[in-house]
Amino acid sequence: MNLVINPLKPGSEFAAEVVNLDLGKSLNDADFATIRDAFYKYAVLVLRDQNINDDQQIAFSERFGALETSLGFDQYGGVTRPEISRISNVGDDNKIRPHDHEKSRYHRGNNLWHSDSSFKPIPANISLLSGREVPPIGGETQFADARAAYDEWPGSVSGITKDDLEGLVCEHSIVFSRQLIVGDIFTDKEKRKLQPVRQALIRKHSETGRKVLYLGSHCHFVEGWEYPKSRALITELTSWITRPEFVYSHKWKPLDLVMWDNQAVLHRGNPWPDEDYRRVMHRTTVAGQARTV
Ligand code: OGA
Ligand code: MN
Repeated sequence: MNLVINPLKPGSEFAAEVVNLDLGKSLNDADFATIRDAFYKYAVLVLRDQNINDDQQIAFSERFGALETSLGFDQYGGVTRPEISRISNVGDDNKIRPHDHEKSRYHRGNNLWHSDSSFKPIPANISLLSGREVPPIGGETQFADARAAYDEWPGSVSGITKDDLEGLVCEHSIVFSRQLIVGDIFTDKEKRKLQPVRQALIRKHSETGRKVLYLGSHCHFVEGWEYPKSRALITELTSWITRPEFVYSHKWKPLDLVMWDNQAVLHRGNPWPDEDYRRVMHRTTVAGQARTV
């Protein structure tokens, strides 16, 4: 194959598209290495025109490492294997769900900037999202470059410097983040399983060695800090990371396969008229290797 890699955000090494690639065919080691190198360089890759099924998506994803399996296999319905999470407003009956359906509300957590499974002790490395059906308006996925944001952060107005951030540990919790956007959706039993976890605020990327600001919606507070001061820092850093100059906004075309590096970016899904248009996305997730603290 004659792979072509086109940067998507002029003036930065963030987000690129890959064309002339067919993951339905076998991918030799040299082409895989080209994709892998581009992925760690750009942190977000858009692989165009990938008319693949779940097995093919899993096979490609597994070349990056062992996959996470979704907590409840049938949690979202409509998938054939536990390595697939279906992010969709379409139910098992193939009909659009009401906006207030329990699953629609759960997915609404994706509307906040986050890094996948930062609420788990070992968070996800890579997510791969296949746009099987995409809406004509809205529903973009946006990505923010937390590497460039670290490099360029000038230190905050309240006198906190970059050096002060070294060694800080934050508690991340999905019970907290869902509360922010859709309220108290977990049962007491679920909450007992979803205990807060500790994550480094400054992370060193396992492949590139670059430092990143590691936050996102699940990030609740800085250990050992007073709560208001902690929330102020988290809010300030999150708005810094998500400034327009660090953001690539992906307008989906059908059959795009978009992969992102959860060690390097924050992302969020934009809303769309979800009672009018179908959106069916299948996600595979490459598991992380180690805790961040
Ligand atoms: C995800 C996610 C956003 C979207 O799948 O992890 O955050 O646009 N998706 O669907
Ligand atoms: Mn996500």
